[in-house]
Amino acid sequence: MTQDEMKFAVAQAALKYVVKNTIIGVGTGSTANFFIDALATMKNDIKGTVVSSKATAQRLEGHGIKVFDLNEVEAISVYIDGADESDGDLNLIKGGGGALTREKIVAVVADQFICIADESKLVAMLGSFPLPVEVIPMASNYVKHQITQRIGGAPKVRENFITDNGNLILDIKDLKITNPKAMEVELNSITGVVTNGLFANRGADVLLLGTSNGVKVVTI
Ligand code: 5RP
Repeated sequence: MTQDEMKFAVAQAALKYVVKNTIIGVGTGSTANFFIDALATMKNDIKGTVVSSKATAQRLEGHGIKVFDLNEVEAISVYIDGADESDGDLNLIKGGGGALTREKIVAVVADQFICIADESKLVAMLGSFPLPVEVIPMASNYVKHQITQRIGGAPKVRENFITDNGNLILDIKDLKITNPKAMEVELNSITGVVTNGLFANRGADVLLLGTSNGVKVVTI
């Protein structure tokens, strides 16, 4: 199976978690795009969606699926999104596509978070993928210094990239993430950080992992 076939398979498997007649949270990225295309087959069964990026809104609307502002909805039954890495406890690194802040907001509001990913994303310890941090542009040098002094790793501004919120992304390479929950909180305590791509204090509830032997359901 190719990586895309695995992404397609997990996107199809995620349809089982879609709660009819409710609002569905939809994430960002190539795996989420497979899910959006799958969701189109049951668009009349849901009330609509709340999204984590402008790109996702555009793709959903292209399928004729209603996109609500988060402030217009009472609840989100389930959030379905990909990840850059997951460990066995379903702590995640997200933000490879730069949509981490809106992704984290939708994830915390949703009753359930279903992560969809191919098997290359499952790791023993998070951190091989550079950890994205969204920062207010005027604070980027300050935040870089604070990260180097307090947390370690090698933060670098993502080139030619501005988030949907008008901010920059720092990608931190060479991090040893032994305690994802603590590091998530520590990074967010630096003034100028909007949020970081560790999804540990609100990790996934279920990981649908695409493997060459089919879709594995991982829970903790
Ligand atoms: C975007 C994300 C994505 O979920 C993550 O980058 C995975 O993307 P893909 O499904 O393309 O591998 O966090 O900000």
